[in-house]
Amino acid sequence: MVNFSQKLFKIKDLSRILADSAPSEKRLKKVLGAGDLVLMGIGVIVGAGIFATVGTAAAGDALRPGAGPALILSFAITAVACAFAALCYAEMASLVPISGSAYTYSYATFGELVAWIIGWDLILEYGVGSVAVSLSWSGYFQSFLRSLGIDFPAWATIDFRSAIQGFEKAATLLSSGTPYDKLTPALQHAWNAVHGAPHILGFPVVCNLPASLVVLILTAILVRGIRESSTFNIVIVIIKLLVLAFFIGVGAFHVKPQNWTPFAPNGFAGIKAGAAIAFFAYIGFDVVSTAAEETRNPKRDVPIGILGSLAACALIYMSVAAVFTGLVPFAALKSAVLNEKAGSLAFAMNYVNLGWAAGIIAMGSIAAQLAVLLILQMGQSRILFSMARDGLLPPALARVHPRYKTPHVTTILVGLIVAFFAAFTNIEEMVDLTNVGTLFAFTLVCLGVIILRVKEPNRHRSFSVPFSPVTPLLGVAGCVFLMTALPGVTWLRFVLWLVTGLVIYFLYSIHNSLLHKK
Ligand code: ALA
Repeated sequence: MVNFSQKLFKIKDLSRILADSAPSEKRLKKVLGAGDLVLMGIGVIVGAGIFATVGTAAAGDALRPGAGPALILSFAITAVACAFAALCYAEMASLVPISGSAYTYSYATFGELVAWIIGWDLILEYGVGSVAVSLSWSGYFQSFLRSLGIDFPAWATIDFRSAIQGFEKAATLLSSGTPYDKLTPALQHAWNAVHGAPHILGFPVVCNLPASLVVLILTAILVRGIRESSTFNIVIVIIKLLVLAFFIGVGAFHVKPQNWTPFAPNGFAGIKAGAAIAFFAYIGFDVVSTAAEETRNPKRDVPIGILGSLAACALIYMSVAAVFTGLVPFAALKSAVLNEKAGSLAFAMNYVNLGWAAGIIAMGSIAAQLAVLLILQMGQSRILFSMARDGLLPPALARVHPRYKTPHVTTILVGLIVAFFAAFTNIEEMVDLTNVGTLFAFTLVCLGVIILRVKEPNRHRSFSVPFSPVTPLLGVAGCVFLMTALPGVTWLRFVLWLVTGLVIYFLYSIHNSLLHKK
């Protein structure tokens, strides 16, 4: 019994973590610098959050109140919470500069069981986050194609649940005498999807094909190699920064200051709910630390990459929030349908009759979300790679491509699974699940910093969190605060996910862990 619990909480010594990543056949190529990391951070941070969830954060939905013009405060609060966590990530990354992020850090602090829980939990951030972004990307991509007169068949562009719910609602309205033309575009879409779908055993086959396809294409790029992926990312980052600058610059001339009153229509409850949704827009600064092993000088470059990209994004988001809520009155936002809210920035431009500007925003959003997807998929494959290298997952997943030096097996596996879920799931649930999983991981990283300061006080840290343990504790408080604003059903799914992970750990991982074998 003692032996068993010793196994569960056995810690992987930091020196050993660093040594384990040393054999050259298991090493990833070191090609990235600080500039690459800041760009990689912005590449993964700015995406579906600012382009697609900002409307719901401002207006609210059936489950929560909206922030209104006080959205700028929601973004500020979330940025502060993320900054505390980012400082902790930066210290951890400078201490443990190898692939695997919070998973690797917790192996050195809490022991194997918690490391497993974190690794498993991070699948919510990276894997489920990829699904959410691919769905949002697909929505923008379809509107872009529609503006060129190209239409995918409706059944190949929607998830099963939305299709059936929309179809049933449309059927009720039609049978009560509402003409088809009066249905909202979203209901027409669902109606056409179910009607036009091929049927198997009486069930309509509907799926989100563009979302799946984009994931598979990015998977191929990632297998090919990190250098190529990084260059591709730089181009896209420049495009999306230009597009957001364009939104702020053009939008500023059409802002009506009276739209900012009342500033907080739902008081603090709205600001808090908005902050929990807005959190999705900040996810990603931690991804930079997953590339530590591929960075030339990780002790210096990783902290610069993480904090630099977070600060830049906070500034951009608060400016966008101010312009967005200055363009569209709160009442108009509240009455917008989900599709409109999801295309927030384009919707705002259309609202002030700048259709041409809305088109440019849509194109930029497609590019922005491509970059996010690329890096989320990359992060996920690196984490699984690290877990397999430790024996917690089958050894085949720890293979490195002989020529490209990328973890090709996990990259392909992640690509296939994300593509599958992208075809069939619903974006809102994916966003909430991503947020709860990520906040949980951040909480443990903040606690890990405090523990390592006590256990390894003399180990060299090229970056130290100022005012520890106050700052890490503030990070914990910030994450818990945001988590409490997420819906109950999200918590339920989160607990189920963790229980599934524990079952796998006790059936497979604990018996195969290299830590116990060596
Ligand atoms: N922060 C990323 C986005 O907004 C996940 O798409």
